[in-house]
Amino acid sequence: MSISEFGLSIDENSTKRSLSIYVHIPFCSSKCKYCSFVSMKATEDDKKRYFEDLVTEIKMHATKYRSIYTVSSIYIGGGTPSSLDYYYIRDLLSCIYKNFAVKNSAEITIEINPNSVDKNKIREYILSGVNRFSIGLQSISQKVLKEMGRTHTADDYQKAIATIRDFGVRNISTDIIIGYPGQKLQDVKDTLALLLKLEIPHISAYMLSVENGTPLKKLVDNGSVGLPSENLVISMYNYIFNTLTENGYNRYEFSNFAKPTFESFHNKIYWKRKDYLGVGLAAHSYIDGTRFANTENIAEYADLIENKQTEPVSISKNLTDEERKEEAVMLSLRTAEGLDLNAYKDEFDENFLAKHKAKVTKLIKEGFLILTKDNHLICTNKGFLVLNAIVLELVS
Ligand SMILES: C[S@@+](CC[C@H](N)C(=O)[O-])C[C@H]1O[C@@H](n2cnc3c(N)ncnc32)[C@H](O)[C@@H]1O
Ligand code: SF4
Repeated sequence: MSISEFGLSIDENSTKRSLSIYVHIPFCSSKCKYCSFVSMKATEDDKKRYFEDLVTEIKMHATKYRSIYTVSSIYIGGGTPSSLDYYYIRDLLSCIYKNFAVKNSAEITIEINPNSVDKNKIREYILSGVNRFSIGLQSISQKVLKEMGRTHTADDYQKAIATIRDFGVRNISTDIIIGYPGQKLQDVKDTLALLLKLEIPHISAYMLSVENGTPLKKLVDNGSVGLPSENLVISMYNYIFNTLTENGYNRYEFSNFAKPTFESFHNKIYWKRKDYLGVGLAAHSYIDGTRFANTENIAEYADLIENKQTEPVSISKNLTDEERKEEAVMLSLRTAEGLDLNAYKDEFDENFLAKHKAKVTKLIKEGFLILTKDNHLICTNKGFLVLNAIVLELVS
């Protein structure tokens, strides 16, 4: 079924600007120990109310943006969107299609957890226009999953993949985490072996970040669990990079690996600093050089939308030229494409190489950066491992 069967007229060749939409679903059936994403357990009434508020928020945005943009991608993330009954997602997508012009070719992703989907849900998602699934596996080791507070097994994951594929959908991504306390290099090898066996075309491998306010942070701080050494985490990352590269994947961003044609359009929008609109609790947006974020407080979110009838934004910042330059460097160096120096010159009317000559020359000499023939500054493998330090050096 195509999006237009929801009753829309879509101009694929529209000359309007392109917009990506992120929708945040802040509900999970349980909370993983490491996770600081805004997500909670909720009653059915809370969920119903939240989705009514989402619809109102979408309509508010549509009055402002519908005439300027066509939508090229939608990402329903969380939280765990799949922890809800399918009709919430169906009605949400239908609301976006009715209020925005969404291209038939739009990439439409939903994040799912392995044990919160069944055949019926997957079918309904696909009928609603979803054409890409992002599944959080994290690890296949039952021990590690338990340590993380995950409630699914590797078996649940395999069943979910089989169900999606039964409907003919190939565009599947899987998230894994490396560097979790107690995780061994062998766990990472086994997890990757399964993903390769299943021919998963897109893999996001995230290095664990110990976030403030999480149960994991407390455990680390009070010494009950120890973090793996930096060397072990680097070995895990290098193993993933080498194995996936040998198997035909392209590392198109530091944590993201894809077979040809399976790179995520939506993810690239973030790194390229193109316009995206975040809808829902704690969702972030970037439109016309302004970054803004919705409130993280669900009661305030409801109050702003229902009573004040206003956009639920809590922070907004119009970036200065210097801030946009910093972001350009920071985000592009994470990608395989690197910093496009010609595009940088066009955007900022500044020659990056001339301005940072001494630092860039040093970083190239030391093997952290490469300057390509087509004038892109890209990180080497060695550079990727100290990315934050390189960015700091270049923007300070
Ligand atoms: C927004 S989460 C939601 C996905 C989905 N609920 C799940 O858990 O599978 C997206 C991904 O972020 C990653 N993630 C979350 N917290 C992380 C952390 N503290 N460090 C590294 N990766 C993290 C996990 O791999 C997770 O699958
Ligand atoms: S990792 Fe996913 S399932 Fe776990 S708490 Fe975070 S959003 Fe929820």
